Amino acid sequence: MRRLLAIMKSVKILGIETSCDETAAAIVENGVKVLSNVVASSQELHQKTGGIVPEVAAREQVRCILPVIEEVLHQAGSEPATVDALAATIGPGLVGSLLVGVETAKVLSWVWQKPLVSVNHLIGHIYGNWLQETKIDFPAISLIVSGGHTELVLMKGHGQFKWLGGTRDDAAGEAFDKVAKMLELGYPGGPAIQKTAESGDPKAFDLPRPLLESDDFDFSFSGLKTAVLRTIKISIGSNFPTSNLKPLTSNLAASFQQAVIDVLIKKTIQAAQKYQVKSVLLAGGVAANKLLRDTLEKRVAQILSSTLYFQPAIKYCTDNAAMIASAAYFNCERWGKSIGSREVLTLEPQPNLIVDKI
Ligand code: KG4
Ligand code: ZN
Repeated sequence: MRRLLAIMKSVKILGIETSCDETAAAIVENGVKVLSNVVASSQELHQKTGGIVPEVAAREQVRCILPVIEEVLHQAGSEPATVDALAATIGPGLVGSLLVGVETAKVLSWVWQKPLVSVNHLIGHIYGNWLQETKIDFPAISLIVSGGHTELVLMKGHGQFKWLGGTRDDAAGEAFDKVAKMLELGYPGGPAIQKTAESGDPKAFDLPRPLLESDDFDFSFSGLKTAVLRTIKISIGSNFPTSNLKPLTSNLAASFQQAVIDVLIKKTIQAAQKYQVKSVLLAGGVAANKLLRDTLEKRVAQILSSTLYFQPAIKYCTDNAAMIASAAYFNCERWGKSIGSREVLTLEPQPNLIVDKI
């Protein structure tokens, strides 16, 4: 399929992303130009429960998927006939949510007679960086930080990924969400911690930086989360949190955010040095964090003077389908399947998909 696409001047891929609580579709031309991008989120429903209920997320996917696809075609002024291929997230993610996107893509692929490319969600996050039409040189290191994952991936080229390390317990985003819950800041926790931390002192509490000195590329955030809980208990006993503890909450949020970022940045720089990369890429929902973005950009410029740094626009950090369509374009040689082939018709969600298995 890649050869076929290479001789076409313009390739439009309709991406579908339903791995968690966002129902997203996008049409992307040649892997870089976003013609339309629609994201419907069931976040408001999950705010009531303080976290995602998989069954609720899956039901919302069913409700939203067709209107979202109709809207994305409408916004791009495209008829299905002008779309060259479909791409859908196959995993990792929640099985009920993934199933909705995968089955919808299979049906559309059959009805429209278009090829379907299955995409690993984590690799999709990396391609949020290509949506700005920037020239990214290989080899590259990518730090993927999301609600379910914290991974360092070496990329020698499109389709050539080597997993270097990841979290041994909680993901970075998960730690943000859990600490926000402890501080009664609401869901999702990342944006809430970032906002609360703005008025806090990141040095107020001396929190641990787990695995900072280990000579691998692994992460661990569960101990840090427990340290925050211990600090809460020691600081104010069982009365926490209450509205008159605002300064303490912001100091704790700022100290926690700084601890996570210190570890993420140190390991990313170490990996970039070890593999002498030409580019460092940030990706995933936590990549929307302002302090992480600004500090990583600064450190790369200071320490790795000949390495370029890239980060997706904020709207392409959290889950979206434009990144899925882009990943499909650049990797379809390996993943693309022709319509009607057995592989397309038997495609199934892979909730536990990892980077090495692409
Ligand atoms: O990539 P994503 O949208 O979904 C997954 O694939 O998991 O990431 C969602 C995660 C959530 O844990 C959320 O709290 C976190 O990204 N997040 C942030 C920020 N915005 C979203 N974390 C820190 N700072 C932010 N500004
Ligand atoms: Zn994601």
